[in-house]
Amino acid sequence: MTVHPTQDAGAAVAALRRGGLVALPTETVYGLAGDARSPEALTRIYDVKGRPSTHPVIVHLPDASFLDQWAADVPAWARSLAEALWPGPLTLIVPRADDVLDAVCGGQPTVGLRVPAHPLTLEVLATFGDGLAAPSANRYGHVSPTTAQHVLDELGDLLDDSRDLVLDGGPCPVGVESTIIGAWDDSPRLLRSGLVTVDQVAALTGRPVSLITDDVRTPGSTAAHYSPRARVVPVEAEDLDVVAAELSVPFGLIALDGVDPPSAEHERLASPRDDVDYAHSLYAALRTADDAGLSVVIAVLPPDTGVGHAVRDRLTRAAAREVGL
Ligand code: TXA
Ligand code: MG
Repeated sequence: MTVHPTQDAGAAVAALRRGGLVALPTETVYGLAGDARSPEALTRIYDVKGRPSTHPVIVHLPDASFLDQWAADVPAWARSLAEALWPGPLTLIVPRADDVLDAVCGGQPTVGLRVPAHPLTLEVLATFGDGLAAPSANRYGHVSPTTAQHVLDELGDLLDDSRDLVLDGGPCPVGVESTIIGAWDDSPRLLRSGLVTVDQVAALTGRPVSLITDDVRTPGSTAAHYSPRARVVPVEAEDLDVVAAELSVPFGLIALDGVDPPSAEHERLASPRDDVDYAHSLYAALRTADDAGLSVVIAVLPPDTGVGHAVRDRLTRAAAREVGL
């Protein structure tokens, strides 16, 4: 039976305590949450997502005071970063505490931690009183959901209405996944880009940030991820006319508001005002393309500033689509 979305945080906590899964809103994308101390809940998260068990999941915490229950030896710079930016779209990969389940960490010596900035989910976390494992609530390799309806479209048939829930907190404001920073020694490393930028991290920590965006330990950072069914063709604005003219089928177009549309037949999927609006509307636009049965989406890349960096990153990976669904 179909799971109906609810806005009842208390019902979500009860479902989690019974060992159920709850798809919940965060400021970035919806997550598929389960008790991070429960091996059974973790097994179901992996099953529902169709995700390989070697891929670690992020543990969502009620607040920064929970850091030491999940991490060992948090570098001082990472602790101050967490205090400055949590709740917010930042995940820290830190050495794990001894009792963190292997299934959470994908067998690695580190654990990913973050405090999400969404009022409904913060209420759930505060009442639950411990960590919730929550990868993005999509099938493995597919586009992350940014509304409760997207979650139902992705996972509706795979959730169990007798024990699971979808918590509807409206559309996610940020729209792309959290920035992931490796924090296991003296040097911050960028493992996945997001709304929190490298410049912000460097300014807040007083340390240079190295860029490691194809680290095998962060599987979401490998190529071929975030893909819709449609083929995604990322282009720089100056190449749009040439690329569009070469296509023999009507295509979907995502481009900043000021970009002139090409003359070839197409459907405008989104016209974001700026980089922040681009991140916010990107995944919904890719889903619209699939719903409309379009086989190709041309996405004009935004400038490489602010969250534009993360948008460019996701579009490049969506274009490398060997993972399929
Ligand atoms: O914004 C987000 O981070 C969303 C919301 C729901 O919080 N979550 C999310 O989770 O994007 P997921 O599982 O789709 O992506 C988490 C990424 C993966 O690339 C995973 O490999 C990496 O974080 N990760 C998690 N724990 C890790 C660890 N211990 N070491 C290295 N990478 C880790
Ligand atoms: Mg994901």
